[in-house]
Amino acid sequence: MPDVSYYRSNFCVEIHPAPGSLVIFGASGDLAKRKLFPALYHLFRRGLLHEDSRIVGCARTSYSDDGFRDHLRPFLTAGTDEQRNAFLAKIHYIAGDYPDLDFYRRLDRFLDKLEAKSDLPANRTFYLAMPASLYPAIIDKLSETGMLTEGDGEDAPWRHVVLEKPFGRDFESAEALDRDLHSHMREDQIYRIDHYLGKDTVQNILMLRFANLIFEPIWNSQYIDSVQLTVSETLGVEGRAGYYEQAGLLRDMFQNHMLEMLSLAAMEMPASFSPDDVRDEKVKLIKSIRPFDLSELDRVVVRGQYDGYRAEPGVSPESETETYVAAKLEIANWRWAGVPFYLRSGKKLGARKSEIAIVFKSIPHSIFTPIRARDMQPDTLVLNVQPDEGMELTIQAKQPGPKLCMGGLTLSFRYSDLPGGEGFDAYERLLLDAMLGDQTLFIRSDSIAESWRLFTPLLENWSKLPLETYAPGSDGPERAGRLLFADSREWR
Ligand code: NDP
Ligand code: BG6
Repeated sequence: MPDVSYYRSNFCVEIHPAPGSLVIFGASGDLAKRKLFPALYHLFRRGLLHEDSRIVGCARTSYSDDGFRDHLRPFLTAGTDEQRNAFLAKIHYIAGDYPDLDFYRRLDRFLDKLEAKSDLPANRTFYLAMPASLYPAIIDKLSETGMLTEGDGEDAPWRHVVLEKPFGRDFESAEALDRDLHSHMREDQIYRIDHYLGKDTVQNILMLRFANLIFEPIWNSQYIDSVQLTVSETLGVEGRAGYYEQAGLLRDMFQNHMLEMLSLAAMEMPASFSPDDVRDEKVKLIKSIRPFDLSELDRVVVRGQYDGYRAEPGVSPESETETYVAAKLEIANWRWAGVPFYLRSGKKLGARKSEIAIVFKSIPHSIFTPIRARDMQPDTLVLNVQPDEGMELTIQAKQPGPKLCMGGLTLSFRYSDLPGGEGFDAYERLLLDAMLGDQTLFIRSDSIAESWRLFTPLLENWSKLPLETYAPGSDGPERAGRLLFADSREWR
């Protein structure tokens, strides 16, 4: 066990699970069986699903209630048979076609019937877990059947809609989707998921920065040399070629997960921890990112594809889709002027690792002759997002023994070593928040617009950048190393 004193003066906001119905469209799909239902099961086992809550799966595939429960059972691996059965008993299934209004009327009547069994508010959360092209049609029908209409008054049951990415494929299409959503719902009914925001380390960025005195005073260009953000995966496209060929890495990872993490790490302090105050600051930060200089794109962006990608099932043999991107971003504000933010993400790389590394500047002068200040390893704070969520701080320290030797010393902790730190999946957190009505960890409409405003010009000039091939299991294209080398730096 590591030597950590933790939670000594603990601050906890107690979570009261709200009663309600959760409807999952696309319930027969991959996300539903691998992530959503297991996450709900874990919430249930932790006592975080209200006992009167109801879950209804919807899709075109025909299942009986029991048939659908049997389909889910192998994915509920933890706990006992008794727990699994009690959870599965809460689940119902309705098959139907998305364009068919009668499907929604049947669903509405079914929910009315379930809700009539309890005196508690008939809150409803609709989770859309299918190809995004179907969102407008489903929202339209939910609206037409009155299922998005909330009553008046504080206690009136709410209607929330949870959406999975992609939220458009460029600025125009994202705006069109947004107009469509807003013609049927208010923004505070819309929960756009970025599952990276549900990860503990990502949430901890705000506590680290704004609940401690020691970090914020040095969190700026005076003390920070550069920031590196890495999301490296060992997996390839894994049967998602249809989607991936249309998306590519920039849309799949940069426009959402990478930019969300960057904005939390670099934003100003919000006025409060309320969802809108936090999200106001995130948007402000994204707006401050300097637009890409299209005349010298190849100096700041590297685009790669792993060797063998074109032979993957469903991938075109001439595919120009990128599976790797590295980019240098600059934030044009007082705090970050002159500090480069290096971002990289890729598939089929040598290691699975997601992290944010804050690299501090060298000390201005060394008294430890003959070691010069510039020869010392820089202090580095690494927020490990994955696979072992936690944090590492590397500082200079004396090595034990009679000689005067100095070297890098890493202080680290892992969430998994802490009491209660065992596996609270990002989807558990986000499903819980959507059902509680807390939008802090969901992406607001203006944030999506600003991130597309940044990346759309890049995508429009995408084909002008060479597509570098890299070997599976490597660190990515060789040119990504040169991106930092040109600034006399290197990737961690
Ligand atoms: P799937 O491709 O597995 O689709 C989910 C379900 O949608 C299918 O089971 C199918 O159900 C239905 N469906 C698929 N195509 C159509 C169609 N053309 N018309 C009507 N229904 C259709 O998707 P995933 O479960 O992988 O993903 C769901 C959403 O989550 C997507 O928006 C995806 O981008 C997003 N996402 C997924 C991740 C993952 O790990 N899978 C990760 C992050 C985001 P049926 O035929 O029974 O109606
Ligand atoms: C998803 C992307 O949003 O995030 C996938 O669509 C990617 O391509 C995944 O593999 C990575 O998530 P995680 O949590 O496994 O790092």
